[in-house]
Amino acid sequence: MCGIVGYIGKEQAAPLLLEGLSRLEYRGYDSAGVAVYSQREGRLNVHKAKGRLKILSGLLGGGDAVEGTVGVGHTRWATHGAPSDENSHPQVSRSGKIAVVHNGIIENYGELKAFLQSQGVPFASETDTEVVAHLVEYFQQDGADILTAVGRCLHRIEGAYALGIISADAPDQLIAVRKDSPLILGYGEGCSFLASDVTAILQYTRRVSYMDDGELAVLTRDGIQCYNHLMQPVEKEICAVDWEIGAAEKGGYEHFMFKEIMEQPEALRRAVFPRIRDGEVFLEDFSLPEDYIRSLRNIHIVACGSSYHVGMVGKYNLEKMLRIPVEVSLGSEFRYMDPIVDGKTLVVVISQSGETLDTMAALREARRRGAKILSIVNVVGSSIARESDQVLYTWAGPEIAVATTKAYTTQLAVLNLLGLYLAKVLGSMAAEDRREVLKDFLSLPEKLERVLENKDGIQYFASQYFNRDSVFYIGRNIDYALGLEGSLKLKEISYVHSEAYASGELKHGTISLIEPGALVIALGTCLRLFDKAMSNIVEVKSRGGDVLALTTESRADEMAKTASGVIAIPDAHPMLLPLLGAAPLQLYAYYVALMRGCDIDKPRNLAKSVTVE
Ligand code: M6R
Repeated sequence: MCGIVGYIGKEQAAPLLLEGLSRLEYRGYDSAGVAVYSQREGRLNVHKAKGRLKILSGLLGGGDAVEGTVGVGHTRWATHGAPSDENSHPQVSRSGKIAVVHNGIIENYGELKAFLQSQGVPFASETDTEVVAHLVEYFQQDGADILTAVGRCLHRIEGAYALGIISADAPDQLIAVRKDSPLILGYGEGCSFLASDVTAILQYTRRVSYMDDGELAVLTRDGIQCYNHLMQPVEKEICAVDWEIGAAEKGGYEHFMFKEIMEQPEALRRAVFPRIRDGEVFLEDFSLPEDYIRSLRNIHIVACGSSYHVGMVGKYNLEKMLRIPVEVSLGSEFRYMDPIVDGKTLVVVISQSGETLDTMAALREARRRGAKILSIVNVVGSSIARESDQVLYTWAGPEIAVATTKAYTTQLAVLNLLGLYLAKVLGSMAAEDRREVLKDFLSLPEKLERVLENKDGIQYFASQYFNRDSVFYIGRNIDYALGLEGSLKLKEISYVHSEAYASGELKHGTISLIEPGALVIALGTCLRLFDKAMSNIVEVKSRGGDVLALTTESRADEMAKTASGVIAIPDAHPMLLPLLGAAPLQLYAYYVALMRGCDIDKPRNLAKSVTVE
């Protein structure tokens, strides 16, 4: 979603802001802008353009045409008001002296706008953000300084926001504010940064701190001072980011998505190997007491999108391992559904970004009801990680493509490891059964490499079917959960209509859609239900549909007798097969999108991190 970068230092700000914004392009956006203070002119210069960042960058000569050493930049993903130059950020106050960049939503902007209009303030955009710029200026009418005015403004605005504010009357500082939308502070030599995402400033500094909700920060060339909501100074812990810059670059690949698909074996090694020792699971810094685990009545998994699909696989596996009920809810539903969650429920929150607003809201609702929160998160220091009782990181490294791949696989791996750990504490699984799964776990990266080596075979199938308008994914049990993810991957990047069904549901309605030309991707990795999968394939074929099937090497020949095409993955423990089965589905979606000429890393209307409701 929207991205924020801010800089105050001795270098020219505009090239640096544009570079930082380019690192945030992956988040999804529709327009961009910068505001830079010019010492010579004694004013803010604001430049904005609808469309890709390169349009803005072209207008500004890569930033060289803008003078000044302090400024803020923004990539906007429209919520209030269509994508346009006027609605892009920064939004400025009537005098042009205050410029604001904003991620999130000001929920009471309508009321505030009416108030400001009644005071004669004219509005130039349809955005909710513009009220902030005008309100800060309004609160300066009595001569208040910028910090005081921003503080007053915060008492009036409601909603979720990360704000970067610059004032022509106080050009030696930048103001940053955070509530429910991430904001990071960066510490450099003679300079300071703010950013919505660490990737924006990684090439300038690795020393960062994470703002907490309700905090406000004043950035100067000499350092950063943070305040809590009572405007009392707070000391922030400065962390060193150890992500390699190269990890957030394409490194010769045409697309981030393809690179990240290929990185999965290595990501799995990082997520799994350090956590298996002497045939047992070791979860670092695990602090949930064993008595508490034994007292659990149920587990409730909460997540959105692909992370939710990980939870769906988890339900099958965890119930098998733990023999206690496991429920899975979408973050956006959980928060409004009066869930049965209390001190005897472990809520497992899954999120790549650690910033998804619906998931975050669900986490807070679960905590309010007395549950402990264990999160499985990729981004270190993210909001969800910081608000959880226990965090298990996926260690997948930066994931840039909007379509998640390596985060999905590592989330699955970590959730399975968690299940095995809990099973040991609960005594719900025999030691030799746990060891068998763990042994197979260790061979997964190498097996996944074999799956990826078959990419040309998958590309061939994509070339056969890429022009189909509708695709159905079917499967039973864990294959159904995997189908949900395969279907999401295809639709989000190739814009092909696709749906996933539990195979048993075909006869209850969906089969009426099967006719010559329909493509069905049949997942048959769950070998105990192999015969059922075969019957469903026959049903589809006999109605003229084409069937591309996925199964394990041991059953591929058998399936090939019926299906139109078969993709085989190595055999593995049944609980681990989705870890191998996801990659062919990711590759299939990738190649179809490529053949259809889609913008793979930045699909239309989508954002990497969904920080609004
Ligand atoms: O960062 P999160 O895991 O919380 O994100 C949740 C979803 O927005 C995300 O998985 C989304 O569905 C992906 N783009 C799918 O590829």
